[in-house]
Amino acid sequence: MSGVFKARILKKASLAGEIFHLVMEIDSPLGSAPGQFIRLSLPGVLDPFLPRPFLVFKEMGTLVEIVFYPRGKFTRILSEVEEGMFLQLQGPLGKPFVLPDAKSYLLVGGGTGGVFFSRYLETLKSKRHLFLLGSRSLSTNWFPLVFPQKETFLVTEDGSSGIKGTVIDPLPQLIDDFTPDLIIASGPISLLKKVKSVSEIRGVPLYLVLEEIMGCGVGVCLSCAISLKGERGLKRVRLCREGLVWNASEVILPES
Ligand SMILES: Cc1cc2nc3c(=O)[nH]c(=O)nc-3n(C[C@H](O)[C@H](O)[C@H](O)COP(=O)(O)OP(=O)(O)OC[C@H]3O[C@@H](n4cnc5c(N)ncnc54)[C@H](O)[C@@H]3O)c2cc1C
Ligand code: FES
Repeated sequence: MSGVFKARILKKASLAGEIFHLVMEIDSPLGSAPGQFIRLSLPGVLDPFLPRPFLVFKEMGTLVEIVFYPRGKFTRILSEVEEGMFLQLQGPLGKPFVLPDAKSYLLVGGGTGGVFFSRYLETLKSKRHLFLLGSRSLSTNWFPLVFPQKETFLVTEDGSSGIKGTVIDPLPQLIDDFTPDLIIASGPISLLKKVKSVSEIRGVPLYLVLEEIMGCGVGVCLSCAISLKGERGLKRVRLCREGLVWNASEVILPES
């Protein structure tokens, strides 16, 4: 069940240049499942007013960890917090996601979208899989610290680490060589759209992790609602309640 916790910051460090890793301690275990998220706010800080959503990178006992990129007001403040300070943590939120059965998985992640896969590392160990992970440059390439080197194909836009390009460049060839039964992609909408068109051409089923901008985070405001194609026309679902992950063949992707 979801709750609100006082979270003490135990550690804040740069994971790779501009990417941060935050370890928080709460009073009792959060009990999040893979695919769920939390919302964070700073007590007493009213701008930004709404708590911000983050995937749970790791959870162990009463420790909760996130990985984030400072892209706006809240995340910049978060990148400057000091150890010992307190945050307000709400969670776990959203619907857990269990990996669909498949013989082999290609996991495509862009930027902090790759955080989604961290909770599946253990499950994936016994399955044939390959991570295709991309970031802008060496300063945002946090993946080698988390994902096993031998199952990972790295790409950076400026070529400062791994192959030069975006994850879309090697994707068709990797699909041909690795022959995955299933692709799961997590990252910005613009990237998801491109992965979708490659997967359609190659005829490989695809699931998309949608981290749209959220308001209330608990199903009330509808700001995270997306449309699904159903037998009786379009159906609206709330990502914060019904889940972040959807079959690409049924989802209508929002404008990026
Ligand atoms: C379910 C969920 C899980 C997330 N998990 C993580 C995570 O693990 N690590 C991480 O770094 N970020 C994650 N995000 C994104 C994170 O919530 C945003 O970076 C944060 O809310 C930005 O707040 P801000 O005040 O810093 O920036 P704002 O000032 O609110 O926004 C700065 C810029 O970023 C854009 N932006 C904000 N949120 C999003 C979004 N969700 N998608 C695309 N663009 C956005 C805004 O349009 C604006 O251009 C997640 C988002 C969702 C919905
Ligand atoms: S964020 Fe308000 S309904 Fe999902």
